[in-house]
Amino acid sequence: MSRDRQADSMRSRPSASEPDHLPVMCAEVVQLMAPASGGLIVDCTLGSGGHAEALLNELEPPIDLIGLDKDEAAIARAKSRLSQFGSRADLEHADFDDLEAVLQQKSKQDVAGILYDLGVSSPQLDRAERGFSYQRSGPLDMRMDASAPGISAREVVNEYEEAQLEKVISRFGDETSARRIAKEIVASRPIATTGELAEVVTRAIPAAKRRSGRHPARKTFQAIRIEVNGELDRLESSLSQAARVLKSPGGRIVAISYHSLEDRVVKAFIASMSKGCVCPPRLPACACGREPLMRPVTRRPMRPSAREIRSNRRAASARLRCAERTAAPARDGASDG
Ligand SMILES: C[S@@+](CC[C@H](N)C(=O)[O-])C[C@H]1O[C@@H](n2cnc3c(N)ncnc32)[C@H](O)[C@@H]1O
Repeated sequence: MSRDRQADSMRSRPSASEPDHLPVMCAEVVQLMAPASGGLIVDCTLGSGGHAEALLNELEPPIDLIGLDKDEAAIARAKSRLSQFGSRADLEHADFDDLEAVLQQKSKQDVAGILYDLGVSSPQLDRAERGFSYQRSGPLDMRMDASAPGISAREVVNEYEEAQLEKVISRFGDETSARRIAKEIVASRPIATTGELAEVVTRAIPAAKRRSGRHPARKTFQAIRIEVNGELDRLESSLSQAARVLKSPGGRIVAISYHSLEDRVVKAFIASMSKGCVCPPRLPACACGREPLMRPVTRRPMRPSAREIRSNRRAASARLRCAERTAAPARDGASDG
């Protein structure tokens, strides 16, 4: 079956409840996870449970699945969607940064597959009260885990020093107008809603730089969201835990990223894990004994088909990478290069 037709058939499959988030590159995820059949898969970003449902339905022999999400609302939605699978689907309100601790607590090891579908879900973006959206005004929040202590977008926007704000917007938003935006935000304080913030950012960007079709505040909102949720640090930490808990050999990681910063973290992780001997070339023989812990399954990132992008605009920026655990013995600090 062609990739387009396979993806279409998965999208149209009836679900226990009306899906509010279309799982991106679902057919590709199921296909890449096929070697995990009969084992345990951890979905680190459960969301509405779309990928999880497809994996539980499709893989033969059947898998067991542990689903994590730091958003309690996502866990509640996925619970009702996945209740049809009974004890095969074990869902936990947790940060994927706690991957090893969750598995230890459940006495699980040798994980056959680990999935990351990064970023925000449609329900998070679509519900104004979550404060993620520049299109629907709501309180400045952006916390994925509203129950955890920590800062929200309100503190970043209203309390960060101008230089600190500029750094966040430039680094996590890749925004060339970061200086002007930070200055305008500071001058417009206090800012109470995402609608106000979107207006302030739009005002700060020179008209000539506003690209048609893209909201001028998109990059700034992405940057603040990454800062509030510590997204890149947690991803790095979780990936190195994943390398330690994967079944050796053959356990797989599949990661879907939606912007270049996330993709860079995943790419660097796979490159570092795939490195063998690190001895200086002047040594006549290897003294470090280091063997690659993983091998890349996808040499280049996979992209969604044009048809998928037409039916789900949120898939447009997706990049999927997959890597497989080798037979090499696990090292401590699996993420170090
Ligand atoms: C794109 S959605 C996943 C959608 C899901 N694959 C589906 O098919 O419905 C990303 C999810 O990851 C969750 N998330 C983001 N960072 C997380 C983290 N550090 N730990 C746990 N969950 C996280 C978000 O709360 C969100 O629900």
